Amino acid sequence: MKFVPPEIIDEIRGKADIVEIISDYVSLKRQGKNYVGLCPFHLEDTPSFTVSPDKQIFYCFGCHKGGGVINFIMDQENLTFPEAAAKLAEKVGVVIPEVDISVQDYNKQSEIRRLLEMHELAAEFYHKIIFDPEKGKLPLTYLKKREVALDVIKTFYLGYAPPYWNTLVKYLSSKGFTPEEMEKAGLAAKSDKGTYYDKFRNRLMFPIRDYRGKVIAFGGRVMGDELPKYLNSPETPIFNKSQSLYGLNLAAGYIRQFDEAIIMEGYMDVLTAFQFGIKNAVASLGTSLTAEQGKLLKRYSSNVLIAYDADTAGAKAAYRGLEILQNIGFRVRVLQLPNKMDPDDFLHKYNYGAWVQLVQNKSLSLVEYKLQAAMGKYNLKTIQGKADVVKELLPDINRIKSQVEKDQYIKLLANTLGISMESIYADLRQSKKIVEKTDIFSKEKHTNNTQVPVTCITGGKRQNALALAEMNLCKLMVEDRATFDLVEESLGLDFAKEEKITAILYFIKNIYEEFDWLPVTLIERLEQPILKQFTSQLFMEELPGNNNRELLVRDYIKTIKLYRLKKRIQEIQKIIHQHEQDNMTGDTIQLLQEFTMLQQQVQQLKR
Ligand code: GTP
Ligand code: MN
Repeated sequence: MKFVPPEIIDEIRGKADIVEIISDYVSLKRQGKNYVGLCPFHLEDTPSFTVSPDKQIFYCFGCHKGGGVINFIMDQENLTFPEAAAKLAEKVGVVIPEVDISVQDYNKQSEIRRLLEMHELAAEFYHKIIFDPEKGKLPLTYLKKREVALDVIKTFYLGYAPPYWNTLVKYLSSKGFTPEEMEKAGLAAKSDKGTYYDKFRNRLMFPIRDYRGKVIAFGGRVMGDELPKYLNSPETPIFNKSQSLYGLNLAAGYIRQFDEAIIMEGYMDVLTAFQFGIKNAVASLGTSLTAEQGKLLKRYSSNVLIAYDADTAGAKAAYRGLEILQNIGFRVRVLQLPNKMDPDDFLHKYNYGAWVQLVQNKSLSLVEYKLQAAMGKYNLKTIQGKADVVKELLPDINRIKSQVEKDQYIKLLANTLGISMESIYADLRQSKKIVEKTDIFSKEKHTNNTQVPVTCITGGKRQNALALAEMNLCKLMVEDRATFDLVEESLGLDFAKEEKITAILYFIKNIYEEFDWLPVTLIERLEQPILKQFTSQLFMEELPGNNNRELLVRDYIKTIKLYRLKKRIQEIQKIIHQHEQDNMTGDTIQLLQEFTMLQQQVQQLKR
């Protein structure tokens, strides 16, 4: 994909009016300053999808998707950022210039071209040998023993690296490649004598392709019990293990069609799944799943079924993968294979029907899976152990939108641990108080008064006034460099209890010099979906009152300072009280001095 320079992104954004562009996909109605419509990203009857022409952003109050116009096209069409930008550019008549490539870049490009050519030739070379009546006997017998069908061998383009020292080196030389290039590709190695020899010898070869189908690496399996079982290509300019998924080029269309991807551990698993008609499977190349691999899948679906080997290593890898995938917005299920089996074993032993049943009956949702894992981790005979399990699961239960579903999980948790549902609900409410701060938008109605209700910072309202101050301050900071500087100077960047705000402010600090202080730029550059959503929501809400920004900033800073002071005062009161009880006098005097000083500061601030 072409690199799109930032000034061109600006030009595209300037010409692609978000309301107009989205209107091609969603029927929008005007509502006050904004437009609303039925969200294209989730099913709904009443419109909660909102577009702001002023800020050029969209946000869905139902499914929380949000962003700028380029993000919309990315989500809608499953494109990457530059792809979406290019698509929009064409629509609104902006020409993306061919970026002047330097000699260095040019060399790099031709290096990549040659690496790809070499891999394509090698794949063909290995594949042809399989069907050689003499040389192909050994690998074909092995594949037959493992019940791999002929068409699967062809579709996955399996091959065989002969057991000699330099057949591939000779072949690639004849095609004009130097041994140095082959070494760089990971296909040859240099001996002590300075000669080059084939890296893969006497192995069954699995070409690894990128999502477009280009061969970028190989995995080579021994056909006996020698070690290592697999030899994989090293990282090269065209192969980055953590960004590749085996089989994706074949599976992509099916993943989209079934709206689910199955992630397995091994090459053989994917092959066998394909053979049994399960064509939406990919393998993670022996590493634990990475966020990059997740993002690659996200283009096709947001649902994943993890089908890792039923051994401890597999379970560990699955657990890590789960967290990663969930964090980038996947709905994840985990398949529970019978003891010691992998998908390959299972399918050959029980067939497709059993697989379908297994998926239906033995796949766990995230919460169920975590419950199972937590139960193995803590001692359930103790009260503490049970409490630990509940504590570990609460964040995930909290995240569930549907009350019905939530109830089911709480019931499951209660039954499994032998505790009451009520006590779990109580813990849930407790932990929820912390979460609710971010949801304040829907509840807090802004008054037409620029004065922040500082005086009502008592009891239950304290949380809200404070959270509101944090959020609106963040908003004001994003839109104006001077405000950012001012707040940083008077409060620092760590002032918010809401971690997302802290993350956003530090993100801006990092891009400070090149940032154009437009919310939409920030939203587009944030990579974590949660932050993107949060920021879109933030800017979809209006600031209170007549938008006298300076006044607002001052008031919000005041609110936060007051809160800090009061918190410290409370702490001191507590300590002093404790000292009284313990009959300690030690540093009480010092504390009393601080106490008086803080109270003076509070009075000053309130004036
Ligand atoms: P079979 O044993 O033939 O069924 O292969 P498999 O694909 O089921 O492999 P397994 O479940 O043992 O391992 C899963 C994946 O981990 C493999 O597909 C490889 O990508 C990787 N892997 C396994 N063993 C090795 C090894 O010895 N070295 C390297 N680099 N990777 C390995
Ligand atoms: Mn296996």
